[in-house]
Amino acid sequence: MRVAVITSSDSGAAGTREDKSGPLIQEIVARLGGQVVSYALLPDEQEELEKAMVCIADEGLADLILTTGGTGCSKRDCMPEATAAISQRNVPGIPEAIRAYSMQFTGRAMLSRGAAGIRNETMIVNLPGSPKAIQEVLEYIYPHLEHGVEILTGASFDCARDAHPHGASHGKE
Ligand code: MTE
Repeated sequence: MRVAVITSSDSGAAGTREDKSGPLIQEIVARLGGQVVSYALLPDEQEELEKAMVCIADEGLADLILTTGGTGCSKRDCMPEATAAISQRNVPGIPEAIRAYSMQFTGRAMLSRGAAGIRNETMIVNLPGSPKAIQEVLEYIYPHLEHGVEILTGASFDCARDAHPHGASHGKE
């Protein structure tokens, strides 16, 4: 799976804070067998975030865009709005699962407004901004995202055949 990583962070883009989450996503994706094809560190500007995602999806540069940051309730946080604006279809189960799974680690998981969507043959998933959150959730969702992308791109047609232990077929963990 080809994965593009986008960090939304004013301080990261301004160079006043090191972005640890973007590099951590890259490390985890590589460990799980994915191919990281690009990384962008952008300010919390909706138009810029939209442009970056549209370019990746419309040029077919990645199967999955993983974003980090900009999902909270501060006035500058706009990653969910950018994602919704450029998505053709919403995939609500992914952020629902991220938040539900995250609640075991912190009740503050409910404050992440992250979204997920599909544009052309690219899936877009918003993750919270902290490296701690990435560490907690990415490995959990990744196999399911792989399966979703396989279905989206037509690489797989059979959900039951590929069912993952945490997965869909019987609803059991
Ligand atoms: N999810 C997990 N798994 N672990 C966390 O530590 N932090 C929460 C939440 N989701 C957190 C989490 C907090 S404190 C916030 S404010 C929101 O994500 C939004 O983060 P963001 O604005 O950096 O995207």
